[in-house]
Amino acid sequence: MSPSNLFAKFCLLALGFTLAPHPLTAAPATSAELIPVNTARSQMTLLVGTDQRLYQLAYGSAGNSPAIPAKTPGRDAEFYPQAGDGFLFEPALLAVHTDGNTSTDLRYVSHTVTALDSNVTLTRIELKDSYYPFHVALNLKTYRNEDVIEQWAEISHDEKGQVTLERFASSSPELPGGNYWLTQFHGDWAKEGQLAEEQLTFGTKVLDTKLGVRAHQYRTPVFLLSKNGPAREDAGEVYGGTLGWSGSYQFAFDVDPAGKLRALTGINPFNSAYHLARHQLFNTPKMFWSWSAAGKGQISRNFHRWARRYILRDTGQLRPVLLNNWETTGFNFNEPKLTALLATAHDLGAEVFLLDDGWFGDKYPRDNDRAGLGDWQVNPRKLPDGLGYLTQAAHQRDVRFGIWLEPEMVNPASELYHRHPDWVIGQLHREPQLQRNQLNLDLSRPAVRDYVWKVINDTLAPNPGITYVKWDCNRFVTQPGSFYLKPDEQSHLLIDYNWALYDIMGRFATNFPNVTAMLCSGGGGRVDYQALRYFHTFWPSDRTDPRDRVFIQWGYSHFFPACAIAAHVTRMNERPFKFTLDVAFSGALGFDLDFAKLSPDEKAEALAAVALYKNDLRPIVQQGDLYRLVSPYDGQRSALDFVSEDRSHAVLFTYQIASGPADTVKPQGLDPQRHYRIREVNLAVGTASRLPGQDTVVDGATLMRDGITPACTKEFDSAVIEFTAE
Ligand code: DGJ
Repeated sequence: MSPSNLFAKFCLLALGFTLAPHPLTAAPATSAELIPVNTARSQMTLLVGTDQRLYQLAYGSAGNSPAIPAKTPGRDAEFYPQAGDGFLFEPALLAVHTDGNTSTDLRYVSHTVTALDSNVTLTRIELKDSYYPFHVALNLKTYRNEDVIEQWAEISHDEKGQVTLERFASSSPELPGGNYWLTQFHGDWAKEGQLAEEQLTFGTKVLDTKLGVRAHQYRTPVFLLSKNGPAREDAGEVYGGTLGWSGSYQFAFDVDPAGKLRALTGINPFNSAYHLARHQLFNTPKMFWSWSAAGKGQISRNFHRWARRYILRDTGQLRPVLLNNWETTGFNFNEPKLTALLATAHDLGAEVFLLDDGWFGDKYPRDNDRAGLGDWQVNPRKLPDGLGYLTQAAHQRDVRFGIWLEPEMVNPASELYHRHPDWVIGQLHREPQLQRNQLNLDLSRPAVRDYVWKVINDTLAPNPGITYVKWDCNRFVTQPGSFYLKPDEQSHLLIDYNWALYDIMGRFATNFPNVTAMLCSGGGGRVDYQALRYFHTFWPSDRTDPRDRVFIQWGYSHFFPACAIAAHVTRMNERPFKFTLDVAFSGALGFDLDFAKLSPDEKAEALAAVALYKNDLRPIVQQGDLYRLVSPYDGQRSALDFVSEDRSHAVLFTYQIASGPADTVKPQGLDPQRHYRIREVNLAVGTASRLPGQDTVVDGATLMRDGITPACTKEFDSAVIEFTAE
């Protein structure tokens, strides 16, 4: 060794570095081993190579399970690639170890496969760095019948000091060779869930958000990847992915020079370096995948069934029909107005009355959106007899009572802000930037977490008559700083915020199991399968013009079941009333309109519609399988049908969004052997059905082959057609 090399070695040793390669501490694998991760129709096959690295051999049809290859795959096939030690492309993990080393070299240690029940199996694979006491446990939970694979990583270490995580994907599978078309669901306030599809080419396509809270304002955390052509409803290989994370996320679709696609998904690493203390556990959010060889329609049905069984609250219970006051009164209400609306709710047959924004604030009354957020005491001028009076009045009318909360926010014009100006999210030396005149509370601060929980508890616990909550969140983060976190922890803010939020939402769901809950974020600004664990429905959009709702509900239906998608009848843009009702029927029905302004015919139609929905349509729509039949993106109409699980009932909706000739619609999902009575329902007052075949009985095979031809030709014509097995 030359003197200069010796000197360099001395310096490195003095700094605590070791030059000699460290022997592997992971258990040596003597031979390669397969780790199959199977659902009924799909499989993801992993391989522990003879070099003890973890590779992915396949993800796709269960019929194509690969065998152990003769040769260890190339590094580009690593299942959870780490930066800094030979991997060439987008890594899943980048950790900076306590000595500054920016490389990680994970090797297999062991794995376990645990059947959690007859449908759910957890495969847990322990990996460890070849030198550092740095651990990653990859978890893959399979939902067999629903063909869903859930993946997340648990990262921890035993190094002496802090390890900084710069990248930490939840999942990073490689999709088998082919060309892929990516569908994203983008939008904005009042324009959520819009589809855009493109072919992926070489390089990295990133879909992300950096907004931290209300983070899905411009893009819901879901996507489709269709192999060898644009996604079709009922044919072709399609992968669907959705991340359970309400904060900033990143989906990076990386096509390498050989044309192989890797999909990296997880928390957005942007401005989110996480300093992990010794023995601290960093859990990534859960990523959910589904694969289908029968098009994106099957992906949707997989996710719908899975969400109804495992994610959403109380899916055995049908979602109640609501009457909400927001579109009718805005902030301008008082006790007599609300009592009158309660009477309307009763007459209409609605099951819940939901009192929206504006009921609180004393010194800073919430009479508009400029004041009051943070002060959750009843406004004594609007509601002199308090919430108890209203819940009682609702009870007397046999209607449940619900209330609006936005507990994560504060207006500067509030007592809370005056008491605790440092409780907000904001940056030192910067002018606070308001949105809708409000600021985000900093949930990384324990006192704020306690306060937010107290708001919820103090509203609900003394008022057991409140059995419905709409949880709103009307701004995102543009100045991501905390006046609580230390300078070097600032990049933790948006991650800590969202875990704290789930903790509070979890307490809310556990402590108030009888309270039905709607997730809202100025519409669909927060729609994901982690937050939805604590809710029954979500509010997809403030845009309730039914013409736009056809598109918005179509978009969300790709990943979220109709029982979760709140669909309210309003008078936005004064569309024909029947069309408005028919569009709202294909979700969780509610109303937000002034009955006094309806014509006598419209009143009669509304009453009949609620009865029809409650008695006939609701179980089929909310618990059945969805088939999207005609896309509103393809022409003048949209059509879809829902089929009950036992296939004895189905309901088909068709919505004309522009004028055009009557066309045949072919229902799907019926039992070909059974005979169904065809019945057009929800006819406008004074009209009769013009459906050819109305009230006849036809077998499922013929119906699905020949279809039906609703008499819909003009913009805003619509039809609701029931099929009942006899
Ligand atoms: C936004 C929601 O999307 C609306 O439905 C309504 O609740 C308002 N907030 C109230 O401020």
